[in-house]
Amino acid sequence: MEKLVIEGGLPLRGSVTVSGAKNSVLPLMAATMLTPGTHRFTNVPKLRDVTTMQRLLAHLGVDSQIEGRTLTLTTNELKSHEAPYDLVKTMRASVLVLCPLVARWGKARVSLPGGCAIGARPIDLHLKALKEMGATIEIKEGYVEASAEKLKGAHITFDTVTVTGTENLMMAASLAEGATTLKNAAREPEIGDLANYLNKMGAKIEGAGTDTLTIQGVSQLKPSEHSVIADRIEAATFLMAGAITGGEVTVKNCPSQFLEALIDRLKEAGCTFDIADHQITIKITQRLKSVNVTTSPFPGFATDLQAQFMALMTLAEGTSVISETIFENRFQHALELKRLGADITLDGRTAIIKGVEKLSGAPLMATDLRASASLILAGLAAEGTTIVDRAYHIDRGYEHIEERLARLGAKIKRQY
Ligand code: EPZ
Repeated sequence: MEKLVIEGGLPLRGSVTVSGAKNSVLPLMAATMLTPGTHRFTNVPKLRDVTTMQRLLAHLGVDSQIEGRTLTLTTNELKSHEAPYDLVKTMRASVLVLCPLVARWGKARVSLPGGCAIGARPIDLHLKALKEMGATIEIKEGYVEASAEKLKGAHITFDTVTVTGTENLMMAASLAEGATTLKNAAREPEIGDLANYLNKMGAKIEGAGTDTLTIQGVSQLKPSEHSVIADRIEAATFLMAGAITGGEVTVKNCPSQFLEALIDRLKEAGCTFDIADHQITIKITQRLKSVNVTTSPFPGFATDLQAQFMALMTLAEGTSVISETIFENRFQHALELKRLGADITLDGRTAIIKGVEKLSGAPLMATDLRASASLILAGLAAEGTTIVDRAYHIDRGYEHIEERLARLGAKIKRQY
């Protein structure tokens, strides 16, 4: 099992260019199934999840080629309408093939994703909305079997804000008969990126970035090309690496408006920023101060940044309270951070973190993608050696993380 070995205590300095967004390229790849022909994406990140999605799409009949950061996908005929469990269980975003399959070919058999480390993560809202658009939905042997002659536009209100639920239904509605409204829609930048691409393909989507999307169905779409937006979660993680090590880090290629909630909290914690066009520099010259955070859908504080922020708060002056409102089990990193000497008390979806003067390196186990980022950040600040086992989790969402941190001055290497 690959491990990352970190010698902590060194302030990070320098600049890093942010990759394309994992949580944007995955829905964009699924959207290519809505049309015949060849699609071309640039600024594609080199991630395990992209490779996993390529494998799933190939199983369905989508040929894809990646050269550097350019990915081309061609969908001419359907080989299968089934997304098998062995692929879906490794990546929950596989559920994004459900609606393109039903919208274009009238049927889909997609394995239920099953739970994951951070929670049950059901897809009931995706299915309820698809049913409202006229699909027949059955659950058989752990699979969703969905079919529809032709999807019909509908007025849908999501009970809970769901990112991939919004994305799935945007794709279904683009080829449906008539108009669809999605209320209580997700507002993440990745929704806007998908809407921009679908509109380039000929869809008629308005309201992306607000909580209400209106989509006028069209009879067919055509392939196009697109550059994937920056990964705001990766950018934030590098900024927090600068903060936790008391250094000065610049992230390039990421619009600051993707990170306003985080920047506000880091300012409260004593960090200073120099923000230019698509470039953000963070600096800190004294001990971090404790700050309270409650996660919420965009533009609130991202749940995908909660674990990393908790790592910072373990060394902050005072006590901070972190409330995780999105997922029911997203504190597993806390148990590992305590092995480094952090003082964290968990109470359901609330964590109370009493800042300590220092952390001491120890062997740790990553449990999920963002938890592994949290452990790496803590290891960068801890005295001595920290070993993060199961490094494959981090490779799902961060491209060559140890090489890029090393270029910022970190002493980190991968052990095979
Ligand atoms: C997306 O997951 C992201 N993944 C997640 O990032 C992110 O944490 C999450 O949105 C929240 O921002 C991708 O975009 C590929 P949700 P998603 O549907 O869409 C409940 C990462 O680290 N819910 O917005 O699966 C759900 O259980 C990953 O990159 C239902 O109850 O999340 C959760 O409590 C982790 N029924 C809440 O809604 C449903 O049908 C938000 O989930 C759907 C969701």
